[in-house]
Amino acid sequence: MLIYLDNCATTKIRQEVLDKMYECMKEDYGNPSSLHRLGLRSEKQIKQSRELIAKYLRVDSGEIFFTSGGTESNNIAIQSIINNSNKKNKHIITTSIEHPSVLNIMKNYEKKGFKVTYLNVDRFGSIDIEELKESICEDTILVSIMHVNNEIGTIQDIGRINKIIKDKNSQTLLHVDGVQSFGKIEFSLKTLGVDTFSFSSHKVYGPKGVGGLYIRKGLNLNPIIFGGNQEKGLRSGTENLHGIIGFGEAVKILNTRHTKEAEYVGQLRKYMLNKIKDSIEDIKINTDIDGNTSPYILNISFRNTRGEVLLHYLEDKDIYVSTSSACSSRGTEKSHVLKSIGLHNKDIEGAIRICFSYENSREDIDYTVAILKDSVEEIRKIMMR
Ligand SMILES: Cc1ncc(COP(=O)(O)O)c(C=O)c1O
Repeated sequence: MLIYLDNCATTKIRQEVLDKMYECMKEDYGNPSSLHRLGLRSEKQIKQSRELIAKYLRVDSGEIFFTSGGTESNNIAIQSIINNSNKKNKHIITTSIEHPSVLNIMKNYEKKGFKVTYLNVDRFGSIDIEELKESICEDTILVSIMHVNNEIGTIQDIGRINKIIKDKNSQTLLHVDGVQSFGKIEFSLKTLGVDTFSFSSHKVYGPKGVGGLYIRKGLNLNPIIFGGNQEKGLRSGTENLHGIIGFGEAVKILNTRHTKEAEYVGQLRKYMLNKIKDSIEDIKINTDIDGNTSPYILNISFRNTRGEVLLHYLEDKDIYVSTSSACSSRGTEKSHVLKSIGLHNKDIEGAIRICFSYENSREDIDYTVAILKDSVEEIRKIMMR
């Protein structure tokens, strides 16, 4: 029995999505830019996927652009906004807990002479609204804030953040990395009022290598990738046709199931946490379970253990979790998110991230907690020696 609890890193593709992609690769392989019938058929399929995603997000289909994933969407949005800005303005605001696909862009702009303000977060990962207000100045080009944190699940109050930004400087744009919120929590992009919003297919049971960028109507961004002018010139390159079709299908399914699935995993998270609390001592819960967090994410430190050792103990029993984010967990660096919320090194070292999907059952959780208990005990014994 394989138990997959690393659904923030990526998700297992749904069977319906696979079937749709197979059909597309077999029959509809025409280049969407070709003028013949096969090309037109492919173009039509892309249009349908775009409409499905726009419908799900309740925005205009002209506001949706396909990319290769969340990383590329973040790069296009942030870099285009900065390139388009008045050259005199050199200030950007972000948070200390962003995904590397945002933080590393910021580091690059710092090298080019831009000033980047990294907002602090409290012990559960929420930004300080007052600090944001004080940080916005006349030459602030952009504020880039993630919607749901990928390591601890904190949801930022994007609607309020946007209002504060626009009240202070109506020229400052707001980009939101929505990779972990899209398909996972309830929101309306139009109500939030964001300028650009990134999302990704492989986090919502779709294929890898495809994502999307919402750009508010009226905001014209120049490309950072040049070529054959696909995606209205914003993202050149032959479209990932079967990826886009699969993504559309994944979102079509989400449209009918996401509320139920979120409720279900929320209950499962509570169930698991209670079981862990009942059976394992000396833990620290890093996700604000009763606060504003994604029901899909649970981050816990098991004191006097090592997260990566625990991960492999679980893996031995075919249970898959992660230490922090998939991108940084291979490195030797400690999680910047757990550092930012003020965790001591010992708690950072013993942290694991559990990310749920609709496919996980209570039996999976019972088994996982039993293995977790044994593994924690064993690791603690070895570490005490
Ligand atoms: C918050 C966040 N942003 C961006 C990304 C990058 O998305 P992708 O893997 O589609 O490039 C991830 C993926 O882990 C993420 O969790």
